[in-house]
Amino acid sequence: MELRSLPDDFVWGAATAAYQIEGAVAEDGRAPSIWDTFSHTPGKVDNGDTGDVACDHYHRWPEDLGLASRLGLGAYRFSIAWPRVVPQADGVVNPAGLDFYDRLVEAQLEAGLTPFPTLYHWDLPQAQQDRGGWAERATAERFAEYAAVVAERLGDRVTNWATLNEPLCSAWIGHLDGNMAPGIKDLTTAVRASYHLHLGHGLAVQVLRESVPGAKIGIVNNLSTIEPASGSAADLAAAVRADGHINRWWLDPVFGRGYPEDMVKLYGVELPVREGDMELIGAPLDWIGLNYYFRQFVTDDPSGPAPGFRQVRGPNAEHTAMDWEVHAPGLEELILRLSNEYGASKIYVTENGSAYADTVTPEGAVHDPGRTAYLEQHLAACDRAVAQGAPLAGYFAWSLLDNFEWAYGYDKRFGLVHVDYETQRRTVKTSGLRYAELIAAHRSR
Ligand code: GCO
Repeated sequence: MELRSLPDDFVWGAATAAYQIEGAVAEDGRAPSIWDTFSHTPGKVDNGDTGDVACDHYHRWPEDLGLASRLGLGAYRFSIAWPRVVPQADGVVNPAGLDFYDRLVEAQLEAGLTPFPTLYHWDLPQAQQDRGGWAERATAERFAEYAAVVAERLGDRVTNWATLNEPLCSAWIGHLDGNMAPGIKDLTTAVRASYHLHLGHGLAVQVLRESVPGAKIGIVNNLSTIEPASGSAADLAAAVRADGHINRWWLDPVFGRGYPEDMVKLYGVELPVREGDMELIGAPLDWIGLNYYFRQFVTDDPSGPAPGFRQVRGPNAEHTAMDWEVHAPGLEELILRLSNEYGASKIYVTENGSAYADTVTPEGAVHDPGRTAYLEQHLAACDRAVAQGAPLAGYFAWSLLDNFEWAYGYDKRFGLVHVDYETQRRTVKTSGLRYAELIAAHRSR
């Protein structure tokens, strides 16, 4: 397979997130986050798994960055844990937390990896949650203060910054469905949380612009293409609502268009907007991050969670271990939508990947044909989007390592590298080797 259209300077990367890999949750001054609380609450995470140890990346990061460079990656997307840097509500900075990310960035630069840190990948300090969390405006302000601390320390070496990762999950899954931390199920709280997440993003952009000259700043959204489950008028209308809930609510405001009016009406929750907020939220960005996993089929369901739709299984399609449909054309479609409908000037696929039940052979190999095919199909989709003119600048596979898959615990493996959680032994999977091969071929073409 040949990726003919991807530009010569295309960024090849892989992504991880702090709570999913680091472990060491009580070390060097880190305080609990909402995910420590949630995962330690019985019944919330499959198997009772927690991020207490995870991939022990906090201690094994040299090996992990070594793996990244062995795969030939040019960039590494990771997240910074707020509860390591500003652990408590008092705002006092924990130098040991900053030191860790300083070392991590140094080592990436030495290994020829361009760092792409994300400031928030869901691990809100529990102390902030105790003060109301994202339902409160103050949390957005605290987030900007934390962003300033990180920018000051790393801004001389880090150019590319993401503010939030998938605020949809923080707001809708964390505050409406309740299946992620902090596990709240309340529409009003969820809508307020979504607003304050956006505000936190906007304030952090302002802070980064001020303290990091030349910073390239983006936000990372998870989007899905939406299909009505049938041709009925009710399902077609449900698909419009689903698109509003999943895609437009998260894109329109950060592209300076304000919140979609149909959704504001549907939620019926007054947004706590103050003067100047929407300008901050919609301030121009340098790039937009797209996390893509699957397409969604939806049907009308007035009793469904607020927006009146329900996701149903698509017909006759291939599914991963997450029961997510494999549908690469959706990635092409979304890249083109960001480019054509939203006018994005630079797009990164900041996550894309698949979970399959992997096993290590007696010879010590991990053969993962499903994941390898998924990777190839989605890279081909990227290539097609670029051929049609989309400004796609890079691709980050999710994930470098198998890791703590949130409410699914360690059972769901997304890594290019297999992790044996008993021994912490790492094994590059066939998909990782294939990715390395494709990267090398693209570079040397
Ligand atoms: C993210 C993701 C990751 C997940 C991945 C697979 O949203 O950034 O949720 O943290 O592990 O999406 O579900």
